[in-house]
Amino acid sequence: MDIVVSGVRPTNRQHIGNYFGAVKNFVEMQSQYNCYFFVADYHSLTTHPHPADLSANVRQTVIEYLACGLDPEKCVLYRQSDVPQIPELYLVFNMLAYLGELERAATFKEKVRSQPDNVNAGLLTYPVLMAVDIIVHRALKVPVGKDQLQHLEMTRTFANRFNHLYGVEYFPEPQAFSFSEKSASIPSLDGEGKMSKSKGESTVIYLDDDSDTIRKKMMRAKTDTGPTEPNSVKSQSVQNLFDIMQLISSQDTYNFFNESFNNCTIRYGDFKKQLGEDMVKFIEPIRERIKEISANEAYINKVLNEGGEKARLSASKTLNDVREIIGFRKF
Ligand code: AMP
Ligand code: TRP
Repeated sequence: MDIVVSGVRPTNRQHIGNYFGAVKNFVEMQSQYNCYFFVADYHSLTTHPHPADLSANVRQTVIEYLACGLDPEKCVLYRQSDVPQIPELYLVFNMLAYLGELERAATFKEKVRSQPDNVNAGLLTYPVLMAVDIIVHRALKVPVGKDQLQHLEMTRTFANRFNHLYGVEYFPEPQAFSFSEKSASIPSLDGEGKMSKSKGESTVIYLDDDSDTIRKKMMRAKTDTGPTEPNSVKSQSVQNLFDIMQLISSQDTYNFFNESFNNCTIRYGDFKKQLGEDMVKFIEPIRERIKEISANEAYINKVLNEGGEKARLSASKTLNDVREIIGFRKF
């Protein structure tokens, strides 16, 4: 069975963009592949988070993953920092990564622009750590968003460089596992771009939003002045809401409103009210699961302890082989 790895930076609350863009796909993959999903807490140190925030965010991310349906019986769910083989392999791979190629990474250049007073070495070698996350399990498939494709290309470069330098065929070439375009991007409720926390609280539906908050946010979502002639092209903001409806409402509901848009009888108030109710129904079970799991400290610890153990087992096999290959041998 192919090995899959994906990581997520710890965050306090995930939204439906994260769900449809990432987590939902992980849930589908866990029954088809040998999956390793982890919270990338080493990676998050590049921004120097407050220790209490870091710890709370790791916890919340794990809880939300579980609430969305990741099943520790079907996949390995762990915290990156519970696997000491990762920083050890990272050290080895830092010797194989060149300054020039690291400086050319788009994410690094972006950080140099956006945070010039914190261009630390960890940012520069972020792609090496990410590569190691993947190759430490000798993974073949990596479900990631578009912004991570360059890192994946660098992963292949580092893996091939290792193989070439040591004359082995040890690391396979991991490939991006791309989701269908449809699930790739959830639009923002303000009508522009994709849903993202950075655009403001009211433009995002969180997985733990309460029902009234969801209704309010949906009612405030941007629309336009309405169709003036039959079968007109939808404005971006209205198209966005139809896209969301396609994902969470029944096909009948979608068809009904699509038709009423096309014959100009649509009332956006009713449309958004329906969308709000369907969103409430969609979020409710996830929110309840989040609450339930949050109250069960023993379960969260058990999941992380067992996940960590399985991840270390897989990682230590790789590391033992690597130590042998590079010449760290017993006499
Ligand atoms: P972020 O919260 O931006 O770090 O994203 C974490 C994961 O969620 C990545 O895999 C993103 O591709 C995915 N993601 C975030 N926002 C959206 C969105 N609006 N639509 C689809 N996927 C998203
Ligand atoms: N860099 C990824 C992001 O920002 C998170 C990540 C870290 C990751 N290590 C990974 C993703 C390994 C896939 C595989 O989203």
